[in-house]
Amino acid sequence: MDLYIDTANLDEIKQAADMGVLDGVTTNPSLIAKEKYDYVKRLTEICAIVKGPVSAEVISTEYAGMMEEGRKHAKIAPNIVVKLPSTIDGLRACKTFSDEGIKTNLTLCFQPLQALMVAKAGAFLVSPFIGRLDDVAEDGMDLIRKIRAIYDNYGYKTKILAASVRHPKHMVECALAGADVATVPFSVIKQMMGHPLTDVGLKKFLEDYKKAFGG
Ligand code: G3P
Repeated sequence: MDLYIDTANLDEIKQAADMGVLDGVTTNPSLIAKEKYDYVKRLTEICAIVKGPVSAEVISTEYAGMMEEGRKHAKIAPNIVVKLPSTIDGLRACKTFSDEGIKTNLTLCFQPLQALMVAKAGAFLVSPFIGRLDDVAEDGMDLIRKIRAIYDNYGYKTKILAASVRHPKHMVECALAGADVATVPFSVIKQMMGHPLTDVGLKKFLEDYKKAFGG
């Protein structure tokens, strides 16, 4: 399972990259707005740190604007993935970019048929938002399972990127459901390596060793 970090914060990206298991980065307009920083400059900085896929989202909602913005983003670095909304215009742009060999990430996916359509258009990634479905009393993980089944039925190569991941339990369930990738806030990446019994056990090992051998 690939692990992406879901942030536009450079410090968090550097810390996650230093862990040695980071495969990519996703950004979106809300995340870059939090940084109050030029989007193109930040994408350039991110691509200098992470060599895996870096998703760069367009803010246009119409096909022509998406194409213009996406082409500019794609020129930033070879690992840029153009992020498009799962709308009819986004689908059209996805098909054109795919035909041109430019990778895409179709975001804001909330139902299985959006995932089916974007796979047909050649999307590299589809981003089902699990946390936001849970927020409205639906089952985000059920969407991952349905997309997995549909893609496996037909052999679609589009990767399922679980997004809107809020906590470690989401990560366990995503891995069991067969999500290809999860994009995760830095706070949750850190939680993935934590357990109180690890801390207690380590403390005891070191105390026992010190008692026996000093130091
Ligand atoms: O990857 C999408 C993510 O940024 C949305 O997460 O927590 O705002 O629903 P959230």
